[in-house]
Amino acid sequence: MLRAHTAKRLLQNVISPDQYDFWAREMGSITAWERCFARVVSCKEEAQDTVSLTLRPNGNFPGYDAGQHMNLSATIGGRRITRSYSFTSSPDQPGLVSVTVRRDPQGAMSDWLCREARPGAVLEINGVFGDMTLAQIQPEPEDHMVLLAAGSGITPFMSLIRARLTQSPAAKVTLLYWERSPEYFCFNAELDALTRQYPNFVLHRLTTQSPMDGKSVSGRVDAEQLNDLLGSEVVDKHAQPLAFICGGAGFVQSARALMADRARQIFAEAFSPLKAAPTIEKAETHSVTLLHSQRVLQVSNQETLLDALERQGVAVESGCRMGICNTCSCATAAGRTRDITTGQFHSGQATRLCVSQAVSNLQLDL
Ligand SMILES: Cc1cc2nc3c(=O)[nH]c(=O)nc-3n(C[C@H](O)[C@H](O)[C@H](O)COP(=O)(O)OP(=O)(O)OC[C@H]3O[C@@H](n4cnc5c(N)ncnc54)[C@H](O)[C@@H]3O)c2cc1C
Ligand code: FES
Repeated sequence: MLRAHTAKRLLQNVISPDQYDFWAREMGSITAWERCFARVVSCKEEAQDTVSLTLRPNGNFPGYDAGQHMNLSATIGGRRITRSYSFTSSPDQPGLVSVTVRRDPQGAMSDWLCREARPGAVLEINGVFGDMTLAQIQPEPEDHMVLLAAGSGITPFMSLIRARLTQSPAAKVTLLYWERSPEYFCFNAELDALTRQYPNFVLHRLTTQSPMDGKSVSGRVDAEQLNDLLGSEVVDKHAQPLAFICGGAGFVQSARALMADRARQIFAEAFSPLKAAPTIEKAETHSVTLLHSQRVLQVSNQETLLDALERQGVAVESGCRMGICNTCSCATAAGRTRDITTGQFHSGQATRLCVSQAVSNLQLDL
């Protein structure tokens, strides 16, 4: 480590970090000064429209905890695109990480990752984030964890379930997993193996559109279904499970409301933006000054600053695009913004451009 540090210091006299990274990439290497490049080493069709990619990151990879996500960037059609994906691998597997991507045929990144990212392709990992981890939550060994996943919401739970059962092999873990039809279920072999290995791990696969194994369609999450699967008995709050919810925004909202009386605590993450607080009624245009380039743009108060800047060709680093990862955060030197997730107004602080609208003229540290 020390030697690498010394070598970097000496090299810095003859080549800048950006030049080093550029030439390393030109020569086909994923080595970099500070940036974390990762090479795709294998691709596996996980389920219908879903591919698992295994990546080998370079030495700048910061590591991760089970349940966390990374921002992954690729250059697609000459444009750099970044999206968030959850780690589906186990943090104790050295040197390799995996993600499982559900393809959105209209999507910029997922379609490319599922169809084009073959072994040898190089992606960039731009930060690791997420609080739905065992280290943050610190469940007691006797706590029952109930996990509700819909669609690609299963991804962070794969590493979380493995971590929980490895740390506390006798802990009760129940997974309720919804897909629209049977061919979309992921990680079948691994989940079935876990049910055999840990009798205290209970798995229910549920479909919303097509029947499975001769059973009727279970339908979207509702109270009756949860009564059937988790029991309808009213128990003392202290004896209630910890609930973990992950999926699209609609699923997360419904499941959170339905679990409110059933769980001692709820941890939820949505993979699509939650319904925004009502937009500002009167449409107005404000000028935004980008302090680094002194460029002045006109933006509407009806769209997020990130959308408005990108539409006008300003490249802004982003990741989750829903206010979680902080990648798009930028200092506001002057002016007021409104957070669309809370409806609150802010001035003079770091603004997450993906969830903020302009409510006055602004000066951004961009
Ligand atoms: C914390 C986190 C973890 C995640 N983990 C995973 C994971 O493990 N696996 C996984 O598959 N996904 C995961 N996601 C979702 C993932 O980040 C992407 O959102 C998803 O892959 C779609 O990205 P895309 O670039 O393909 O689609 P995008 O280009 O972002 O488009 C998404 C949809 O919006 C539509 N759209 C785009 N722009 C507009 C517009 N201006 N107006 C109207 N419609 C528009 C598109 O047609 C498309 O249908 C996660 C998200 C978060 C926030
Ligand atoms: S892109 Fe993640 S907070 Fe804005």
